[in-house]
Amino acid sequence: MNLKGRNFITLKDFTPEEIGYLLDLSADLKAKKKKGITGNSLNGKNIALIFEKPSTRTRCSFVVAAVDEGAHPEYLGKDDIQLGHKESVEDTARVLGRVFDGIEFRGFKHKTVEDLAKYAGVPVWNGLTDEYHPTQILADLLTMKEHFGYLKGLRFVYAGDGRNNMANSLMIGMSKMGVHFTILAPECLWPNKELVDLCKDYAKESGSTITLTEDVEAVKDADTIYTDVWCSMGEEDKAAERIALLKPYQVNKELMEKTGKDTTIFMHCLPAVKGNEVTEDVFESAVSVVFDEAENRMHTIKAVMVATLGE
Ligand code: CP
Ligand code: NVA
Repeated sequence: MNLKGRNFITLKDFTPEEIGYLLDLSADLKAKKKKGITGNSLNGKNIALIFEKPSTRTRCSFVVAAVDEGAHPEYLGKDDIQLGHKESVEDTARVLGRVFDGIEFRGFKHKTVEDLAKYAGVPVWNGLTDEYHPTQILADLLTMKEHFGYLKGLRFVYAGDGRNNMANSLMIGMSKMGVHFTILAPECLWPNKELVDLCKDYAKESGSTITLTEDVEAVKDADTIYTDVWCSMGEEDKAAERIALLKPYQVNKELMEKTGKDTTIFMHCLPAVKGNEVTEDVFESAVSVVFDEAENRMHTIKAVMVATLGE
């Protein structure tokens, strides 16, 4: 499998085989790191990390993964560069592309990461935009594969804001990898129809299904219940409205019990607002794998950089 020179903007651009390859590479790099073995596949490379929005996991994962493989990461926060203000995205991309070997972008408009990829001439990796968060999905898939031993045929329910970057990206990733995917949310927070239709095509190919529902009974038989914050970064002013809409979809003990299984796991990309989208008891319970997901961010981000930029 050769992914050299590729951008990582959304999982729409990757086949199930390519996603499977990135997961296998992540598992391999993780096993090596546990034995104290790090690589040198990014030796001499310089990596720009652009962050318009804050981050704990994504930033730290890119930094540690880059250093583990011999690269130098450079953090460029929102007040450090003029991106889109005094200097256009197109010009910034062309400058950074001359200086760096790879560029990570986290920020607001999805178009910004697309434009960086268009003009930089080096691999660009999406560390989250308003619409998509693809590196998180690799970590989530790896976590599920580690936990269950397989992906195809698993039943996955996402409860909460069904039209945010996580819901969109999970729907793409799960449908491509043959995981049955349900959005459990009020209809006004369902993902856009165009993306749902696209993912229905992926699901058809992989033998899975996509369901959109307002009915909490849909969690029956779920292997995974996933949630995310009710207000994503940049939407803080919507708090009251979202709490009113999403309270019935909180992941609590009662919802977990509705699966009818004692093997269902709880997942969350973090950071979490406990008491809103998830209760403290579920978050802290034995079925919660949230810190495995968080750790797997590093191993999967490393795999993305090694696959697209490594020697
Ligand atoms: N899950 C995730 O992307 O976390 P950060 O916002 O801390 O990077
Ligand atoms: N939907 C969340 C994800 C954070 C990792 C946000 O965009 O804030």
